[in-house]
Amino acid sequence: MSNNFLAEKDAQFVWHPFDIFRNSSNLLVERTLGNKIYTKDGRILTDMVSSWWVNLHGHNHPHIVHAIQKQAEKLSHVIFSGFSHEPAITLAERLIGILPGKMDKIFFSDNGSTAVEVGLKMALQYWFNIGRHKTKILAFEGAYHGDTFGAMSLAGPEPFNKPFQHHLFEVVYLPFPDEQNFEVIEHILFKEFETGEVAALVYEPMIQGVGGMRLFNKTLQEKILEKCRLNEVLLVADEVMTGFGRTGKLFASEFFKVKPDIICLSKGITGGFLPLGATSATKNIYEVFNCSDKRKIFLHGHSYTGNALSCAAANASLDLLLTEDCKQRIESISKTQSQFLRKLEGNKRLEWFVSLGTILTMSQIPEKSKGYFDSKSEKAYQYFLERNLLLRPLGNALYLSPPYCTEISELIEAQNVVLEYLEK
Ligand SMILES: Cc1ncc(COP(=O)(O)O)c(C=O)c1O
Repeated sequence: MSNNFLAEKDAQFVWHPFDIFRNSSNLLVERTLGNKIYTKDGRILTDMVSSWWVNLHGHNHPHIVHAIQKQAEKLSHVIFSGFSHEPAITLAERLIGILPGKMDKIFFSDNGSTAVEVGLKMALQYWFNIGRHKTKILAFEGAYHGDTFGAMSLAGPEPFNKPFQHHLFEVVYLPFPDEQNFEVIEHILFKEFETGEVAALVYEPMIQGVGGMRLFNKTLQEKILEKCRLNEVLLVADEVMTGFGRTGKLFASEFFKVKPDIICLSKGITGGFLPLGATSATKNIYEVFNCSDKRKIFLHGHSYTGNALSCAAANASLDLLLTEDCKQRIESISKTQSQFLRKLEGNKRLEWFVSLGTILTMSQIPEKSKGYFDSKSEKAYQYFLERNLLLRPLGNALYLSPPYCTEISELIEAQNVVLEYLEK
């Protein structure tokens, strides 16, 4: 099929997600390898956003390809209620072995949004099951936790969610913490804790993703976690974006002394090959569901829960992630990102710039900002594409979050293109 024909059919039949960069048709991809995307019209793009932050070791890594092939010959998928299988059991045990805190059980779902929905429902039902009226949820302003209704409620009345605003449940929002507003946050917390009704805080540890790639002040975020823990508020860490090495640690919750009760995972879990969500819970949480009263069990499940191919991919991705080679790659990328910050000093186009592990993020000074819908981000997107780089700015936020297979020379090249863009 010719490229033009495919492009026409794409426009005619396919509804793409987040289709905001509309001025050109979608790029048709022929194949991928490592951090490269080969388009049908012969271009080779370097993926600097890990294909929406899912890819860890490079596209088509042979170890993961082989694991999926082997698994597909034996068992692809089977109902996961009343049945189980080795790839899921192995993965659950391995995740529990590396997750921060004292995680005890893994509940599988399909993606980041469902992992968060599961975490939210576990937290709310935990209190229900033990007969406590705790129903309020805390979240940070600017949070993004996915596109299902619970996850949208957590993000609040963002432009994404406007059409659904009347159907979102109420959440108590904490301002994005800084030294100036911390007293306000303490006041909100104090007032809410007094009601005794706060069930959980759902938070992205260390860095907000889609909400602007903003870094939390670690000390202040930890103080909030501490206060929640002291006031019987469950901590639900959304590590969908931060998990599996992105922040330089295996999980961002490792930065804190206060560990979560529930952790939501997805994106990098399969190394970017197949969809999979996972939500972990401590023994304390699991135990109140594990009883003879059928009304108290966790009545939640997705058709593809525990998909064997996804679990096999995730196990193979973990094999790679836990090698010394991968650890060193993450360290080298992290070092190169933090060294680049010096070159950004004094740049008049930037409000702030910072790195966390393998992520480099900066915010351009808003002109008349339209936030996520700012046409500046579309222009930047096109600018980088013309230079064969896949970078996908989020409104004013510009960031690089490469797969760990990226060579340092490739990263420096991409950083230099960012510099040229900022200096043009
Ligand atoms: C922190 C966070 N949570 C949840 C999600 C939702 O994940 P998914 O797109 O797989 O539903 C995202 C997606 O970007 C995310 O960044």
